[in-house]
Amino acid sequence: MARTVRPTDYGTPDVLEVADTPVPTPSADGVVVKVRAAGVNPIDWKLYSGQFHAVADKHKNATGLAESLPKLGLECAGVVTAVGADVTGIEVGAEVIVYPVAGAYADYVTAPATSLIPKPADLDWPEAGSLMLAGLTAAHTLHAAGVGRGDTVLVHGAAGGVGLLVTQLAAASGARVIGTAAERNHDLLREFGATPVRYGDGLLERVRTAAPDGITAAIDCVGTDEALDTSLALVPDPQRIASIAGTPRRAAAGIKVLGNGPGQDAGAEFRDSVRADLAARAGKGELRVLIDTTYPLTEAAAAHRAGIAGHAPGKLVLLP
Ligand SMILES: NC(=O)c1ccc[n+]([C@@H]2O[C@H](COP(=O)([O-])OP(=O)(O)OC[C@H]3O[C@@H](n4cnc5c(N)ncnc54)[C@H](OP(=O)(O)O)[C@@H]3O)[C@@H](O)[C@H]2O)c1
Repeated sequence: MARTVRPTDYGTPDVLEVADTPVPTPSADGVVVKVRAAGVNPIDWKLYSGQFHAVADKHKNATGLAESLPKLGLECAGVVTAVGADVTGIEVGAEVIVYPVAGAYADYVTAPATSLIPKPADLDWPEAGSLMLAGLTAAHTLHAAGVGRGDTVLVHGAAGGVGLLVTQLAAASGARVIGTAAERNHDLLREFGATPVRYGDGLLERVRTAAPDGITAAIDCVGTDEALDTSLALVPDPQRIASIAGTPRRAAAGIKVLGNGPGQDAGAEFRDSVRADLAARAGKGELRVLIDTTYPLTEAAAAHRAGIAGHAPGKLVLLP
């Protein structure tokens, strides 16, 4: 038997249970992976919170979910334990990063062979298991906003799971990064190459002081009115503002809204095209996945409560 974390109903993390489930077998074009680390992402608790009921069908298609209660865990890293009859080029024992997948909050997960890429040898399991969802999102934001050398980019929520990767990728592209965060995360942002600014009342003026020559692009990893209004006030071209937090105001603001929601740009092709590069950069230490806390599988609910609190610098990870 294997353990699987699953919701028993829609609601708070109190609805999560650890169930005994059979060790899965692979489909003809799939594999089974023994999960060593599963990344925790806000989408995980949003999926069983009930907030997606209105867009349920679209969302189920996007995440491969077939049942009314979602399978949790959209990314992981682990070791291949079984390979389907039609799969070539993947061996039992291979260490892999798996994304996208559904149900990685488990000892074992089935995945399409196309979701696997080799895990770089020098990347530890927690980092490998939590790199892809945030990292591909981060790369997509910078691509959508056209950020590169010569830009000064404002990153809202720069110390979060996605924000720290946006910060590093933007800095590596030659852009100057102004990042918003709570004051306790300012040294961390400096370490990652950003000029930190406290969010809250007076943000607009603080950013103007930090970037007297102006802001050319903005990445919103937060979703507040303040982040939107500050970005619109500072960035001359709204098409150079990219948000990963879909809100009705953002949809109407003429900015780029990225994600799987209605009318948003999922960027599937772009995200897929940068998977290998992202893994290679993390493996070489050029890109750092900051792990805030790891939890045993049985403490998934505690991980979700920490995530919902919304101030963990870096990633939360489950270690089955
Ligand atoms: N559309 C997509 O494709 C996509 C993909 C991934 C994630 N997302 C969404 O993007 C959001 C961020 O995800 P994440 O994984 O980075 O979450 P996270 O790791 O929980 O980070 C959230 C960050 O927001 C900051 N924050 C909290 N309140 C703030 C405020 N009022 N103003 C400015 N910053 C604030 C926190 O920083 P401090 O601790 O410094 O306060 C925290 O570091 C979530 O809503 C998630 O669902 C969307």
